[in-house]
Amino acid sequence: MSSCLKDKRILVGVCGSIAAYKACELVRALRKAEVEVTVAMTESATKFVGPTTFAALTDRPVLVHQFPDDPGAGVRHVGKAESLDAVLVAPATANILGKAAHAIADDLLSTLLNIVDCPVLFVPAMNFRMWRNPATQDAVTRLRSWGRRVLEPDEGPLATLQVGVGRFPEIDRIMTELRVMLDIPQLYQGKHVLVTAGPTRESLDPVRYLSNRSSGRMGYALAAAARDMGAEVTLISGPAALGPVPGCRMVHVTTTEEMLHAVEEASQGQDVLIMAAAVADFRPSSPAEDKIPRASKPTVIPLEPTPDILKTIRGKYTGTLVAFSLQAGSDLGPARKKLEEKGADCLIVNRYDEPDAGFDVETNHVWILSSSGEEVELPPDSKPVIARKVLENIIQYMQ
Ligand SMILES: Cc1cc2nc3c(=O)[nH]c(=O)nc-3n(C[C@H](O)[C@H](O)[C@H](O)COP(=O)(O)O)c2cc1C
Repeated sequence: MSSCLKDKRILVGVCGSIAAYKACELVRALRKAEVEVTVAMTESATKFVGPTTFAALTDRPVLVHQFPDDPGAGVRHVGKAESLDAVLVAPATANILGKAAHAIADDLLSTLLNIVDCPVLFVPAMNFRMWRNPATQDAVTRLRSWGRRVLEPDEGPLATLQVGVGRFPEIDRIMTELRVMLDIPQLYQGKHVLVTAGPTRESLDPVRYLSNRSSGRMGYALAAAARDMGAEVTLISGPAALGPVPGCRMVHVTTTEEMLHAVEEASQGQDVLIMAAAVADFRPSSPAEDKIPRASKPTVIPLEPTPDILKTIRGKYTGTLVAFSLQAGSDLGPARKKLEEKGADCLIVNRYDEPDAGFDVETNHVWILSSSGEEVELPPDSKPVIARKVLENIIQYMQ
């Protein structure tokens, strides 16, 4: 399925903030969503990032000067402003917010902001004192009262490493706000999505455990992507060194048994259950109550299987079930057999014997197998991109 932002004509106004470099990532994200992007930079912005960068990222000239050498260009810029679907000012400085709120039009970007009648989204980024300055807050209130959207900056470490409200928001948040502003229906609007992620741990004694190398990144990326597509998301996570996913309900578990109970409890009413966790398949059959002394020289750890979450839940849960499978090699035959045996609607296959795929890396390469026989390969990409594409694909199997 192609992006809903496809072919939208969006002007990105880049201002003179330390966060100007983050506008490069934003422009890339817009281009990936097949948006027609034109960048307009303020003179100050060019002190932070060169126009050449944006020209290369958009494959178009970058607008900087109000009065360019070509006298006709200024008039063409005004004509362009009239054909836009949206303007995204990112990062927006305190200066541009103040100018836009008071009809000041003393450079190209502020002039365009005075002309356009399409939706406008400001994405401020600044020092926390600048943000809470009453003059900035007054400008924000004025702009909002006229229907302009101004995103609240994130809270966290700023360029000076001081902590406060003023950080440039995450790209996904900006993209979501843009879709909402343009009334683009979200793919998972009104849907409930349950995701499991990370490894589980099975105790050997009070201080040691059996586990695996799963980082949880794939499951966390799926939860964030589903949230960005409008879903209500619950994320059940085994022990992972990742922060909570904002906007998702988090449930933390340690063992496979605990994950099973959490899934049983949370699965009712869910439209889709995506089991991306790499649960331990075996556990020590009788974990020691005290730390096993080195001197005892154990040579064997008796194991027993952990509960099969997929099998247990299949009989009780009637929504769409998506499982993950980690394998070696490219033969999808065993995965297809597993899909049939487990009764899942889809199986996402990834490999542990391929570089930059599978566990504990930032990227993945997956195949989506469906119970109705379809097979789709998603080429290697970052886990957030793979997550978005997986969600775009599996929606067709939802009841
Ligand atoms: C190193 C440096 C970093 C700056 N970062 C910001 C910022 O993050 N946000 C902001 O509103 N202004 C920031 N400023 C101030 C703006 O660059 C200044 O107000 C400028 O006039 C803004 O022009 P513009 O709005 O036309 O881009 C910074 C200035 C400097 C020198």
